[in-house]
Amino acid sequence: MSRFSISTPEGTRDLLFASCRALRQTENAIRDALETRGYSEIITPVVEYFDVFAQANPALDQEQMLKIVDKSGRICVARPDNTTPIARIAATHLDGSTLPVRLYYSQKVFRSVAAGHGHKGEFLQIGAELIGADGLEADKDILSAAFGALTGTGADNFRIELGHSEIYKALIEELGVDGGTAEQIRRLIENKSFAALGDALSPYGERPAARALRAMPQLFGGMEVLDEVESLTGNVRVLGAVSYLRRLYRALDEAGYGDQIMIDLGLVHEMDYYTGVMFRGYIGGAGAAILSGGRYNALCAKFGRDLPAGGFGIDVESVAESLAGAQCTAAETRRDSVRIALTKGRLEKKTLALLKNAGYDISELEAGSRKLIFTLPDTKIEIVLAKAADVITYVEHGVCDMGVVGKDTIMEKGGSFYEMVDLGFGKCRFALATKKGKDVYGGYKTPVIATKYPAVTRAFFARKNMDVETIKIEGSVELAPLLELADAIVDIVETGTTLKENGLEVIEDVAPISARVIVNLASAKMKKAAIQQVIAELESGLDN
Ligand code: PRP
Repeated sequence: MSRFSISTPEGTRDLLFASCRALRQTENAIRDALETRGYSEIITPVVEYFDVFAQANPALDQEQMLKIVDKSGRICVARPDNTTPIARIAATHLDGSTLPVRLYYSQKVFRSVAAGHGHKGEFLQIGAELIGADGLEADKDILSAAFGALTGTGADNFRIELGHSEIYKALIEELGVDGGTAEQIRRLIENKSFAALGDALSPYGERPAARALRAMPQLFGGMEVLDEVESLTGNVRVLGAVSYLRRLYRALDEAGYGDQIMIDLGLVHEMDYYTGVMFRGYIGGAGAAILSGGRYNALCAKFGRDLPAGGFGIDVESVAESLAGAQCTAAETRRDSVRIALTKGRLEKKTLALLKNAGYDISELEAGSRKLIFTLPDTKIEIVLAKAADVITYVEHGVCDMGVVGKDTIMEKGGSFYEMVDLGFGKCRFALATKKGKDVYGGYKTPVIATKYPAVTRAFFARKNMDVETIKIEGSVELAPLLELADAIVDIVETGTTLKENGLEVIEDVAPISARVIVNLASAKMKKAAIQQVIAELESGLDN
């Protein structure tokens, strides 16, 4: 029997009985909440032309779209997003008399996902869009619908955070940097990479825009965050956005949602797409945002009609799973500890020394048993020991709140998490090396590079605009050029002894490496105080 006849494609799964009931119950509750607020359902085709998405929404990753070629040879895709087709409909089907219009959809989106990451390739999304209206009342309408939808499911442990696209855009413009630097700064803010952001902004000293940008990743929490940013900058556009967020908060507070609102001024994703308020929702037990949305006034114009628009989408399955978890009595689903994944091996000794310096009792960890999960005495901290790449997997999925892992693994594996602290130990570097005297770039042959880190290698040569062939090697990479399998290697160099003893030398440094603290996106928000306390204690351990 073919192996494909009994399994489903990567990222998809069958839902039976209780899971189906839970999903439909959540779906129906959200539908009811949206219909009560005057949103009407529309259905768009599962398959659309690739161009609809590629041209209108560059934030959508083309590689992740599931493609189909129709009989005329045109490329179609299984819809990767619900908002773009709705903008297409708004621009082509709706006449002025119907505007503003409240629409909602309940339909799946599809992504082509890589094997082995546990990412979903198909999920049910319910979303609402208010098209043809702009301003505070419109944003309040959309956010009230979002709060109403989540409340309608019976969930009580969720939060929606607000940000505003103008804040980053205004500050980066004030700083006056080129596009590449702006994008580098944006990424560092998005990943809450405090230390690296500080380095990137150091050439701009204490200029007000640099100070405010440097603070952006930390500007999340309650309404006090808005006071902080006002004390950092006099930029009129930023102050306008902050005052808008205040008014929006007041309007939502009056509607009874104040306790569930958080602020994150470090929301800087999809800056070409969002044109005003941006928001994300989190719920207990889910490691990623379960709701995202905002104002995207430029989207409909991509289809030929300039209409203001805003809306949001909810990952229904994640909400249903969280609700099922909340009903469960098992302690795991209601975990209030901070669980930290530590990297075994190279970084282990120094990380344990850090915990000890920070004042934690790690005697059980030092006892050298085969145990994998430890609770630190007199704390609500659990420690998990895992291989480097798995630290990222556990943190990304939210089963661990934080992790300590090398920048080498972060660069190779990537993923969605905040990279909050550079611990400064475990220092080494990625370097390009080859046999002494060899000219890797000479001649017309495509250089062959052996490495344990193919993603880092590809990114390094892509920046040089060079095409190379990479060969993945699992260990002792230095052998590859010695055995003439490769022209050079990209590998970790710590003391340089391995290279030296094998007649190899560094041609070029690729990137510095050290141990980092990474934090799950949802945990950073839902357990902010506890996580910041752990980070402060670790930082005090570094000073001791
Ligand atoms: C790493 C790296 C180099 C060596 C560099 O290998 O891949 O081989 O350490 O260290 P040095 O500059 O201090 O000599 P690791 O020991 O992790 O084992 P591996 O080669 O099997 O991956």
